[in-house]
Amino acid sequence: MYFIEESRWRGVSEQDEEDNFWDLPAPEILPVREMLESLLGVNVLAPLVRCSKLPFRHLCSLYETHITHTPMILAQEFSRSQSARMSDFSTSSDERGVFWMEPKASASFSREVDENRGSNGSTSSNRGQRTYYEPGPSTRLPPMPIPPTKRSRLVRGALVAQFASPNAEHLADSAELVARYVDGLDINCGCPQSWAYKEGVGCALLRKPELVHDMIRQVKGRMGWNWPVSIKIRVDPELKLTDQLVKNALAVNVSHITVHGRTRFQKSSDPVSLEGIKFAVESTSGQVPCVGNGDIWSYQDVARMREATGVHGVMAARGLLANPALFAGYETTPAHAVEQFVNLSVDYGFIFPLFQRHLAYMMEAHLLRAERTWFNSLPSTISTIDYLSGRGLNVGRAQKMSPVWDARRGRTLHSV
Ligand SMILES: Cc1cc2nc3c(=O)[nH]c(=O)nc-3n(C[C@H](O)[C@H](O)[C@H](O)COP(=O)(O)O)c2cc1C
Repeated sequence: MYFIEESRWRGVSEQDEEDNFWDLPAPEILPVREMLESLLGVNVLAPLVRCSKLPFRHLCSLYETHITHTPMILAQEFSRSQSARMSDFSTSSDERGVFWMEPKASASFSREVDENRGSNGSTSSNRGQRTYYEPGPSTRLPPMPIPPTKRSRLVRGALVAQFASPNAEHLADSAELVARYVDGLDINCGCPQSWAYKEGVGCALLRKPELVHDMIRQVKGRMGWNWPVSIKIRVDPELKLTDQLVKNALAVNVSHITVHGRTRFQKSSDPVSLEGIKFAVESTSGQVPCVGNGDIWSYQDVARMREATGVHGVMAARGLLANPALFAGYETTPAHAVEQFVNLSVDYGFIFPLFQRHLAYMMEAHLLRAERTWFNSLPSTISTIDYLSGRGLNVGRAQKMSPVWDARRGRTLHSV
C-alpha cells in the first residue's frame, strides 16, 4: 500500500521530473517551531539511544520524516571530553531531507514572547537574535521537481540534538558546542531507567519544574532567547504536575514540547494515553506547538494521534525502527529501504552490532523465526550483505547515492 494518492502526480512524466530539478528555488530552512506551527503533517523520528544515529536518521529522512533527533547524549561527558563528542555525535550536510510540504491555512501562535522578552525573562533586551547553525552545502533534492499543489513549500528537514543533564551548566556548555551542527536542543525529561533517576536526569526532571525552567533559561541565556530549546516529557499520573511543568517551560520561551503519553511507571507495552497528551497540549494554551509520541505503528495511528490530541507533529520510535518508511505510508519495510540502509551504513561507516540490530528490526516482519535466528548469528557486515544479496536485494555494490530519492517508486533518479 502506498499512501500518497496517484492523482497528485498525474500529468507529470518521468522525463519532466528528471529535467526540472535545477530550476527549483533553494529549500526554506525553518526553525523547528515554525515548521510545526506553519506546516501540515510534520513527522518526527524520536531520540533513540544507540539507534537514532546518522545512517538511520538519513534513512528515515528519505521517507517523509521531517525532523530527526540524535540519541540522548550525556551533557556532562559531551561538554568535558573530546572523545565523548567524537563517539556520541556525528552528522553530515546531507542527512536532512528536502520535502514538499503543505502550509496550514492559518498559523495562529502568539509570537509576543519571542519578540518582547530578553534572555532572563525581562522585557527590554533584543538579545537572542544570533543564529549558530550554518547549513552545509547539501546535495539533497526533493523527490520530484514539480510542487504537488500550488501552495506547496519546499522545506529542508531539521536535526535536533537531545541531551540529558542534572544541571543547567553542562547543558549550556553542550549547546554551545553542538549549535553549529543542529537546529535545536531537546532536554530529555522522560528516560525512565533507574540509573537515570538516580543521576537526576530523564524522568527525574518531571517533578522538578523549577530546574527545567532554569535549564531552558540558562541555555537561552548563553545562546540567545530565540535559540530553539525543547523538552520531551512523559505525562504524570497526577496531571496537574504535568501542567506545572509545561507552565514553567512556557515561562522561559520553550520552543516546543514533545509529550510521550505514558507515565514513568508504565511499560512500553501499556497503551499510550491520548487523553494525557491532549491534556498537555491544552496546558500550553496554544502558546507553543506540541509533538505527540507513543504507539505510532502505522499511518492510521498518525491520523488518530493528530485527531485525538490536537498535536502539531507526530513522533514515532519503535514504529520507525520496525519500518523506517512508515511516514511515507508503507505498511512494512519495503526492500528499497533495506537497500538504502545498507548503502548508507557502508558509506558512513556504521559499527556492525548496530548495523545488524537495525536490519533485524526492519526485517522482523519479513523473516520466519528460523531465518531470524540465522540472521542474528551472522558475524560481520560482509556476511550480512552476502545474505541480503542472496535474498535478491540490491546491496553491497559501490553505489553512489543520487541526490534525488523517489520514495514513491523506491528508486533514485540517476540522470540529474
Ligand atoms: C531503543 C530505544 C531507545 C530510546 N532512547 C531514547 C532516548 O535516547 N531519549 C528519549 O527521550 N527517549 C528514548 N526512548 C523513548 C522513545 O523516544 C519513545 O518516547 C518511546 O519509545 C515511545 O514511543 P513509541 O511508542 O513510538 O516507541 C527510547 C526508546 C527505545 C525503544
